Amino acid sequence: MLCVKYYVECMTHDTLHMTQDCHMKEKIRALKEKAGAEITAAAGQREILESLRIKYLGRKGEISEIFKGISSVAPEDKAEVGGLLNELKISVTNALEGSLAASSAGTSAAKNRIDVTLPGIPARLGKLHPITQTINRISEIFIGLGFRVVDGPEIETEHYNFETLNIPLEHPSRDAFDTFYLESLGGKNLLRSHTSPVQARFMEKNKPPFSIIVPGKVYRPDATDASHSFMFHQVEGLCVGKEIHFSDLKGCLETFAKEMFGSSTKMRLRPSFFPFTEPSAEVDISCIICSGASDPAPEARDDRVFQRNAQIKRCGVCGGKGWLEILGAGMVNPKVFEKVGYDPKKVTGFAFGMGVERIAMLKHGINDIRMFYENDERFLRQF
Ligand code: PHE
Repeated sequence: MLCVKYYVECMTHDTLHMTQDCHMKEKIRALKEKAGAEITAAAGQREILESLRIKYLGRKGEISEIFKGISSVAPEDKAEVGGLLNELKISVTNALEGSLAASSAGTSAAKNRIDVTLPGIPARLGKLHPITQTINRISEIFIGLGFRVVDGPEIETEHYNFETLNIPLEHPSRDAFDTFYLESLGGKNLLRSHTSPVQARFMEKNKPPFSIIVPGKVYRPDATDASHSFMFHQVEGLCVGKEIHFSDLKGCLETFAKEMFGSSTKMRLRPSFFPFTEPSAEVDISCIICSGASDPAPEARDDRVFQRNAQIKRCGVCGGKGWLEILGAGMVNPKVFEKVGYDPKKVTGFAFGMGVERIAMLKHGINDIRMFYENDERFLRQF
């Protein structure tokens, strides 16, 4: 009897366990299904997904609650039920994490989406500086006349800046080409005050005939104002060969002037002096603004043309002179040829030097040289 009772009790106990455990398994399965369905339904909705995470995985969440019930599971079922519970937890965690990651990728993709209908942001294109543009134009013209472009150093020696150009130490003409001396280089080196030193440098290494132009920076200790700068640009020209005449120089420069300033441009030469050319000349072009209208030729002064012209306001560019100086030039001084080992009886040549800023100012009607160096885009973008 006792035995039977014990058996019955046991039976009852086991049956109870069995039903409880079945219930537990069923609960786990159902929860897995419910959580799965809710997570799927909340796809893409971060806030709902977040609340589901708390609902299922939170400290007081539904899964934690079932975990608490594991103590009442029959010892032999504990491993199985525990395994199922862990599986449930892992699968809910994975589903939630997956869905949350997908939704955040979705939001950032939405944020980063390119709206192809928006107008583009135009790239601001740079331009060549007006001085560079002017050098290029000058070069283009002389290249068309058979010249080639060569280069020389900005840091020079007294030898090339003065001596090879027939400017002796004690000669007053040295003042006109005064410059900055570089103490750090023993005071012997200087910043070239013109591009002419490249004449000797080139002739020492090359045999005539040749025609070259040399664009580059030059330096002079001038106080800065509307027409002076301690640094500016020049283009040197040198043509050497047999039978090179003054008329070649004239024709060459006239072609340049017409190409640069227009075909109606007139040119005139005035006698001048440079130690490295003989004879030398200053070259003028007819004023590109008034064409000389405010300064009539002497023979016109008494007639009615002059009367009318007298009414015209003095031209602001040429000051009423009608002419604008654009460069210095001349036939290469035989002494220069001798210094570089050429025989002046066999070769002749011409040379010229022009200020690039001056050409650019005349061409574009710029009245202050400082504009070129201020880097004000409002100015630079006009060219
Ligand atoms: N070097 C001269 C100057 O700077 C210009 C020049 C060059 C004149 C060549 C004659 C010949 O003023």
